[in-house]
Amino acid sequence: MAEAVINNEALNRIIASVAEIAGYIWDKGWAEKNAGNISVNLTEAVSINLKDDTLCSHRELSSPFTALAGQCFFVTGTGKRMRDIARDPLSNGLIIRIDDTGNGYHIIAPEDKNRLATLRPTSELPSHLAIHTMISNRGSKQRVVIHTHATELCALTQIKELCDGDKLNRILWGMHPETKVFIPKGVSFVPYLLPGSKELAAATVDALSKHDVALWEKHGVFAIGENIEDTFDMIDILAKSASVFFTCHAAGFEPEGLSDDQIDELGKLVF
Ligand code: 13P
Ligand code: ZN
Repeated sequence: MAEAVINNEALNRIIASVAEIAGYIWDKGWAEKNAGNISVNLTEAVSINLKDDTLCSHRELSSPFTALAGQCFFVTGTGKRMRDIARDPLSNGLIIRIDDTGNGYHIIAPEDKNRLATLRPTSELPSHLAIHTMISNRGSKQRVVIHTHATELCALTQIKELCDGDKLNRILWGMHPETKVFIPKGVSFVPYLLPGSKELAAATVDALSKHDVALWEKHGVFAIGENIEDTFDMIDILAKSASVFFTCHAAGFEPEGLSDDQIDELGKLVF
């Protein structure tokens, strides 16, 4: 086996961040069984010698991602537990390189070849790759996509009359000042669609074209960011807002929320 890939400090840092944040996601209670998935664009962190045999096990994609040809990603494996990803990201995830046609990908050889037979990328790969395509096309620095089942945010989208981007943002921004400061564009709302489907991927890309966070009705949240810590923080802040909302209701009163003027004022703060 020729030497793999990898410019290692950058990659090691990213993988360590994945482990840390996967642990927080598990600690938050957002990751029952295999819930949630993470992908990171590694193209700048790895260099691959196309002549070596570290590019092994080619697989077809269900639809082409030509704009991503040649790009490399860490993706969590389908069925893998977030708590196990926290312990050992590289045994519970894959490094893949989209092939030169964009119709498939190579898995960069894991140390243990026997794992290849069972290791598959997340079932939400269509959404992850569609989002990375959008990010790549617009040339932004975002590299990270996190999907998790943040309980409080799942619960919000169970309230039919709140299933609308403007209404959700009014509530989320109103429950805590930092929500407007750190998620100034707010969230977008994606009506329920089958998990793992191309339709859900297309709706998510649409939703994230103007926002950094999308709430999937009755399912969870997708967020995009430049690094994994900040991407997690956005979800955490939104979950805090939703939690304040439900805590007030549980205590028997309707929260007043910040006023429109207060939210606008927060939106003008510069850091
Ligand atoms: P995977 O185990 O395939 O990543 O699926 C988890 C999930 O949350 C699906 O929406
Ligand atoms: Zn999910």
